[in-house]
Amino acid sequence: MTLKVMMKGNEQILRLEQVEKIYGPRGAFFNKTGKDVIALSRISFSIGKGEIFGLIGESGSGKTTTGRLILKLEEPDAGKIFFKDKEVATLSGNPLKTFRLRVQMIFQDPYQSLNPQFTVYETVSEPLIIHRLKNKTGRDEQVYDAMQAVQLSPPEDFFSRYPHQLSGGQRQRVAVARALVLHPELIIADEPTSMLDAPISIQIFDILLKIQKTFNVAFLFISHSLAAARYLCQRIGVIYKGHLVELGLGKEVIQSPRHPYTRALLDALPVFAHGKMVKRYETLLKKERENTRAEGCIFYKRCSMARVPDCSYEQPPLADSGSGHLVACPYT
Ligand SMILES: Nc1ncnc2c1ncn2[C@@H]1O[C@H](COP(=O)(O)OP(=O)(O)OP(=O)(O)O)[C@@H](O)[C@H]1O
Ligand SMILES: [Mg+2]
Repeated sequence: MTLKVMMKGNEQILRLEQVEKIYGPRGAFFNKTGKDVIALSRISFSIGKGEIFGLIGESGSGKTTTGRLILKLEEPDAGKIFFKDKEVATLSGNPLKTFRLRVQMIFQDPYQSLNPQFTVYETVSEPLIIHRLKNKTGRDEQVYDAMQAVQLSPPEDFFSRYPHQLSGGQRQRVAVARALVLHPELIIADEPTSMLDAPISIQIFDILLKIQKTFNVAFLFISHSLAAARYLCQRIGVIYKGHLVELGLGKEVIQSPRHPYTRALLDALPVFAHGKMVKRYETLLKKERENTRAEGCIFYKRCSMARVPDCSYEQPPLADSGSGHLVACPYT
């Protein structure tokens, strides 16, 4: 199964194999029920060199957990993560330092990720100083290039500004420049534009696309929005409550979604009809269906297309529904 979800004909940069993460009841205040939370249930996917891969799902589906595991901020409870064929869990010493250079993260809220007391120049150059890369001239060149790549130009107009002297879009560009300055091979972008309005989001997406092309950087783009993924991603994985339920080329997942949950996500995209914006949720039940069993399809409770009781017996595996488009539902 793992082989099927790999990139075809393109060198892989990242591979997750059957990755699982379970948070115990004492994990944090998130969990009020006293039960374990299966944040990720044996998910497998890969990202090709220079590819933008979208991980799309609603709140609490395990997207940020996936990003944190890849970055080795936490360890998986089962399964393996490979960065360029080296298992991330085994990295230490110099290989771990190199990994920390090669994989960078952009967060949702640049206000939280940028130090308010640092100027733009200090913010963007700091990673080079921390990693002791280059002399002052070399650092300045890399900072300059990164600033130009995010279209904060001319860079010297921005160098001495503080985060509060920038717009939301400019702040996020500084965060992108800070990630880019280390010349990473993979950037994990966790909801990078959810604090920004649509036109500014598009500007950031265009910058990410340009960076992808110019520097051949791969992205794990994390979002709740299939519309954003449609704009940006070559391939899309749809995640629901820790389960990857659909995986395929972006245009195929959007144009011919197979899993009822992906259809529900697409139905939920606003469409304009008779001058009014309407939302359709035809693939979602209005009231959740009871399921007395713990097992069963993860989407059983909300799925308007479920076969009762067949779908309550076991979680269908991700299976190829033709030409590498994978779906965890045998009835579509
Ligand atoms: N440290 C933790 N301890 C306990 N449970 C956690 C912890 N971190 C995350 N969780 C739980 O794991 C699940 C997945 O969380 P995660 O943050 O990965 O979701 P997400 O898809 O990023 O959601 P959002 O779109 O809201 O950011 C949720 O049920 C969450 O409550
Ligand atoms: Mg998150």
